[in-house]
Amino acid sequence: MLGAMNERVAIMGATGHTGGFVAAELHRRGLTPVPCGRSTDLDRAFRGADAVINCAGPFASTADPVIGSAIGAGIPYLDVTAELEAVTDIFDRYAGAGIPIAPAAAFFGGLGDLLATAAMGRWPAAERLTIAYALSGWRPTPGTRATGRVSAERRGGRRIVYSGRRLRFRTREAPRTEWSFPAPIGSRPVVGEFTTADSATIPTHLDTPEIATYMSSNAVDDLHAADDSGPTAVDERGRSAQTFLVEVVASSEGTERRASAAGRDIYAVTAPLVVEAAVRVLSGEGDAAGVASVGARFEAKDFLHSLAPEHLTLE
Ligand SMILES: NC(=O)c1ccc[n+]([C@@H]2O[C@H](COP(=O)([O-])OP(=O)(O)OC[C@H]3O[C@@H](n4cnc5c(N)ncnc54)[C@H](OP(=O)(O)O)[C@@H]3O)[C@@H](O)[C@H]2O)c1
Repeated sequence: MLGAMNERVAIMGATGHTGGFVAAELHRRGLTPVPCGRSTDLDRAFRGADAVINCAGPFASTADPVIGSAIGAGIPYLDVTAELEAVTDIFDRYAGAGIPIAPAAAFFGGLGDLLATAAMGRWPAAERLTIAYALSGWRPTPGTRATGRVSAERRGGRRIVYSGRRLRFRTREAPRTEWSFPAPIGSRPVVGEFTTADSATIPTHLDTPEIATYMSSNAVDDLHAADDSGPTAVDERGRSAQTFLVEVVASSEGTERRASAAGRDIYAVTAPLVVEAAVRVLSGEGDAAGVASVGARFEAKDFLHSLAPEHLTLE
């Protein structure tokens, strides 16, 4: 873990569930969180900050104004968006920006991207990358629900898959099958074509024509259930009882390489992911300008190992 630097990091969406975890993690790492929200004058607030982490979603509404102010202030921008379309928009619109921009430095969009990068190792290309997520349950926050509604609207109710080197729409029902996760989880019912921001970040720097994705069926059912109670804190860090395991398999010419990470609470783990990324950007690691995912911007294995064993158990 890199050392504390006493730098000031603005958090957009500081009142939110994820924003709270990010503020606590910044404190823990010796940085100073600067809470920002709807009524904050961003241009003014960002002039006194060294970086901004955007935790305000749906990002379809917040990414452009927050990035615009970050560019104006000349400070790095990171976010935790899970919106695939928001990620592709950011890559399209800000490739030439003069600041470092790291979208989806989070559970979805960041962790799978890091694992895929680590699994590929020195392989120049893979015939297929498969990402399988096992969640013990999922009680989405209001922000996640709002994000799901915005993404569904943008897709006209269709689903998206990455196939044949591009994002494509699918209208048929998502396939259900089984996936054999590493012990102790083992074989589980999963829903296929559960496409996340990982399918937007990974193709920006890894060479693969196909990305297959699976989510444990129980979590998909929870996501669509009427229960809107949200996550319940069960430990001193505010984490819920939810556990996760993400497995990535890179396949090429009959050979497979695997990488997996397990941990607790997909919202809580987003904080050490994005704060580690912010610390590294502030230390001058990675490109000083333009858009890059965490897997592309940093050395993936080193990044993942810096979060283990406290936040992640790696295989
Ligand atoms: N990629 C991932 O793995 C990952 C992980 C965690 C979170 N996320 C994403 O992060 C977002 C927040 O999640 P959450 O769990 O923190 O939700 P939350 O608890 O409902 O909080 C949402 C936050 O966003 C702010 N906000 C929403 N719309 C805004 C707008 N137009 N302008 C300014 N602020 C706005 C809210 O401010 P008010 O209090 O003023 O309403 C609040 O601070 C969601 O989009 C979620 O999908 C992604």
